[in-house]
Amino acid sequence: MSELLADGMLAGLDEIAGTGRDARRGGYSRHVWQAAELELRAWFVERAGRIGLDVETDRNGNIWAWWGTPGPDAVVTGSHLDSVPGGGAYDGPLGVVSALDAIARLQAAGFTPSRPCAILVFAEEEGSRFGIACLGSRLMTGALGADRARALVDADGVTLAEAAVRAGLDPAHLGTDREALERIGLFVELHVEQGRGLIDLGQPVAVASSILAHGRWRLTVTGQGNHAGATLMADRRDPMVAAARAVLAVQDAASARPGTRATVGRMNIVPGGTNVIASSVQAWLDARAETDEETRALLGEITALVDEAVAENGCSVAVVEESWAGSVHFDPELRDRFSAALGGVPALPTGAGHDAGVLAASVPSAMLFVRNPTGISHSPEEFATADDCVAGVEALEKLLRTLL
Ligand code: GLV
Ligand code: MN
Ligand code: MN
Repeated sequence: MSELLADGMLAGLDEIAGTGRDARRGGYSRHVWQAAELELRAWFVERAGRIGLDVETDRNGNIWAWWGTPGPDAVVTGSHLDSVPGGGAYDGPLGVVSALDAIARLQAAGFTPSRPCAILVFAEEEGSRFGIACLGSRLMTGALGADRARALVDADGVTLAEAAVRAGLDPAHLGTDREALERIGLFVELHVEQGRGLIDLGQPVAVASSILAHGRWRLTVTGQGNHAGATLMADRRDPMVAAARAVLAVQDAASARPGTRATVGRMNIVPGGTNVIASSVQAWLDARAETDEETRALLGEITALVDEAVAENGCSVAVVEESWAGSVHFDPELRDRFSAALGGVPALPTGAGHDAGVLAASVPSAMLFVRNPTGISHSPEEFATADDCVAGVEALEKLLRTLL
């Protein structure tokens, strides 16, 4: 068991522990096709090669590492290597490293698969660079159109099409990839848990039951840019004040609806000067709920409250939907079969989005969660103990053995 570990974590995580550290925010900032993420891609290619896997990158920038001949009805496992800004070490990489370790252990045991098997590393799962989460899986399945994807722009004004070229992809080839999708017989993603479910149950591993519906909306609040010293308080149309009240409205609306979640985690103040009343503020809303209808109802309530708050401050607001993902209920037969194969581990819902959730609309998909003793994620405090990570690898290995 200890052959998996180095420095108190999975050896693979230790190998990438220095890549993409964010000195300003803490944690890691590893964004698609930027230096740190490219370094992780190169690391993955080398690491997969070390255990004899054949690596290829698909038309959407997702990396596949095949154990044996690529083919239809493959058992595919994996996750992502990108992170949120200032994210933790486990969200994504744990699933990739566990996949490498599970296959290495099967190989070491002399196991020969009877169906194709691959590790899949998805591009831009967090949407931290281009704004749409699960970009690689959405493109592959057609949930996101190629034209829309190509036109996405990052914070530096670089389009996704331009970034793709720089990463060696042909943007003309982005989009639905039936060939890739048709090779997947079943997909299983191992992921660090992003809540307290396994802490409360006192167990290291669970299978996933469902994912909340969720979406992202860009709110542009427009007021009147002006001088901070020369403008009387009564004469202002300050979009910062309107945006602050809008954030409170977001909190009020979600707090009044049990189980729903709404967050404003990012703002862009234009022009952003200490002695300048802003002319506009962009704020990004992330809203989630159990069902699609409830999420839409929450959004409706938020936009009504935001409209009111913004108007009271002499400003206006435009709301644009940037992405939408309906709720996901993982195949109950697969979920129960996996739970039973792992000795009856619990099934847990999650409020976090995953590529497995996107794939679930097209192919049988499942997830494994590994306990996170802090219960915190999308933060440097995200964690999983070495013992629990090993339990995750063993669980994945066991599933692969039964599936292959
Ligand atoms: C991805 O981690 C998300 O849930 O936003
Ligand atoms: Mn995440
Ligand atoms: Mn993730």
